[in-house]
Amino acid sequence: MNPEQRYERHKIVVERYLRGFISEHKPQTLYAPAKYVLAAGGKRIRPVLTLLACEAVGGVASDALHAGAGIEILHNFTLVHDDIMDHAQTRRGRLTVHKKWDENIAILSGDVLLGLAHRALLRTKSSCIQEISKLFTESVITVCEGQSLDKEFETRHRVHVNEYLLMIEKKTGKLVSAATQIGALIGKATPAELEALRRYGEYIGRAFQLQDDLLDIVADEKEFGKAIGGDLVEGKKTFLLLEAMRRAKGKEKKMLHHVFTDGGVPRKQVPLFRRIYEETGAIDSAKKRIETDITEAKNQLVALPTSTARETLRWLAEKLLNRTY
Ligand code: IPE
Ligand code: IPE
Ligand code: MG
Ligand code: MG
Ligand code: MG
Repeated sequence: MNPEQRYERHKIVVERYLRGFISEHKPQTLYAPAKYVLAAGGKRIRPVLTLLACEAVGGVASDALHAGAGIEILHNFTLVHDDIMDHAQTRRGRLTVHKKWDENIAILSGDVLLGLAHRALLRTKSSCIQEISKLFTESVITVCEGQSLDKEFETRHRVHVNEYLLMIEKKTGKLVSAATQIGALIGKATPAELEALRRYGEYIGRAFQLQDDLLDIVADEKEFGKAIGGDLVEGKKTFLLLEAMRRAKGKEKKMLHHVFTDGGVPRKQVPLFRRIYEETGAIDSAKKRIETDITEAKNQLVALPTSTARETLRWLAEKLLNRTY
């Protein structure tokens, strides 16, 4: 079995778990959207990382399934609320919850997903359950901090690239590293293995968000499943924007400045900004940064014993480099 097949096999197990997880039916306006979200697919990267991290330190993947699913449900909760905050109409190629239903329903079905995430996690049998719960809870708090910074930056006229990096570490990196750490704890990792998997998660988490920002401008909309250019329309201070701003001159710089002063640009101008991102070298610069982070992530894996799980973690890091959705 090659790494891709191993990833797919874990993904199928997670899908099956999620499909059967919500047994409640009523109130329908709460559970129908919650089920809609969990049934929408997605890459399931976080739970697969949890299973692989557990295996990579000598544990059994199925022992980490409740926790992996809990992390995926938590991730889905953040997406439902994120789509309200970002005024997004589509996700995973389907209408977002607040568009298909309404905002109140999206707020509440997001909330119930957070509760369900804890329900799944707490089914984990591990002597480290307290440490695992702590990591899980702290990651919820950190994601909220990151999301809050993301919103604050929308109306800021100046954002330093280091502030951006801290923001994405919080909103995205933390949950990815929690996913690998929790898997490692369930698999009874040594302190050195736990630290290596934490750092691996942190690096791929950061690369993952940089790539998401990149795809927001260069992806094929149908494949990506989300509207292209949303970050520019919403005035998001992405790495691409900050880097293009640093490199641009004259007319181009003035155009970019509008994202800062007007809190976003009209959707029809998105292709123009894409050209500026390309011509200033911001796109190439983002790609280089992603590559560096992926290399660093892979470097962490030397602290783990040789195994097929470790090989799959290496493959997964590389796969993220070339992902198109
Ligand atoms: C989207 O996450 C939000 C980010 C943190 C970039 P994913 O790209 O993992 O979304 P799904 O779960 O595969 O749909
Ligand atoms: C990720 O950022 C946010 C979360 C932590 C939920 P984005 O707002 O860029 O994610 P997408 O692009 O909507 O999936
Ligand atoms: Mg967002
Ligand atoms: Mg969003
Ligand atoms: Mg995005």
